Amino acid sequence: MSGPNQFWIRVVLVLIAIIGIVLLGRAMMLPDSWGQYGYYRGGFIDQEAHKDMKYGTNESCKECHIEVLELKEHSSHKRLACEACHAPVAEHIKANKKFADMPTKKGERQISLCLNCHQKAVGRPEKFPMIDHKTHLSEQNVKLTHTCDQCHTVHAPLENINHVKKQRSLKEVLNEK
Ligand code: HEC
Ligand code: HEC
Ligand code: HEC
Ligand code: HEC
Repeated sequence: MSGPNQFWIRVVLVLIAIIGIVLLGRAMMLPDSWGQYGYYRGGFIDQEAHKDMKYGTNESCKECHIEVLELKEHSSHKRLACEACHAPVAEHIKANKKFADMPTKKGERQISLCLNCHQKAVGRPEKFPMIDHKTHLSEQNVKLTHTCDQCHTVHAPLENINHVKKQRSLKEVLNEK
């Protein structure tokens, strides 16, 4: 055999070797469940389903905080998720025991939590209870640093306010007599 032919045979052999390695490597590395659902690894679904739970819904607080749940259930905050204002239950409970504090928003962080939903803004549904922070607090004759929970119970925000409204003043009682 002369030179040029030998060269092309080598090229073809090298190409066959490369294709062989690629096919072998592919067969070794592809997981069994590849292709079960088209170009998708079927085992991924099972893997995701077995990840540790992070959020537990309000149901997960019931066992230990039933009073808060019941208070909230009968208030205008009934539809809110506990974990939306606090943190995922997985950061607080492990093996059914408290292992870390659940964040409770105090001070400025609480003000911004409440205002996230209640600050008056264009585009929010008109019927939604909105306030302008500055106006709201000046109408109540208090400083802007007053936190919302100094007047509203966070889990049932109008409870004590409605209660106070129902009380008659001493003057009113005396006038009735
Ligand atoms: C609108 C936001 C919000 C929602 C929803 C909410 N919380 Fe809270 N929670 C707070 C804030 C703010 C504090 C801390 C300030 C305070 O106690 O006034 C707090 C405090 C607490 C406390 C500590 C002291 C206390 O007041 O009893 C517990 C326990 C608690 N929340 C549990 C829950 C559970 C359980 C749920 C769901 C049923 C829930 N929270 C829903 C905002 C919220
Ligand atoms: C297995 C019981 C258990 C579960 C479930 C549980 N907690 Fe608690 N939680 C506790 C204990 C114990 C404390 C500390 C004592 C106390 O204040 O009552 C606590 C305290 C808190 C506090 C006050 C801050 C702190 O960490 O001391 C908040 C807020 C709170 N929990 C929110 C929640 C929310 C929201 C859920 C559901 C997503 C939840 N907890 C689920 C047991 C539990
Ligand atoms: C995730 C959004 C969200 C957060 C955060 C939130 N709220 Fe609310 N709030 C609501 C919703 C939703 C309602 C019920 C509105 C309705 O009935 O149309 C409500 C109702 C209220 C009401 C009753 C208004 C009325 O006229 O009926 C008050 C007061 C209130 N919230 C105060 C607070 C305070 C104080 C905080 C902070 C501790 C807070 N909210 C945090 C969503 C939120
Ligand atoms: C000094 C007391 C006080 C403080 C502090 C306070 N509020 Fe109020 N808020 C009230 C009273 C009282 C009402 C009821 C007003 C009424 O019915 O005329 C009210 C009503 C509301 C309403 C219902 C408005 C509506 O149109 O239905 C929302 C929402 C609200 N407050 C949110 C907040 C938020 C958020 C904070 C914290 C930034 C806060 N409030 C701080 C006293 C207070």
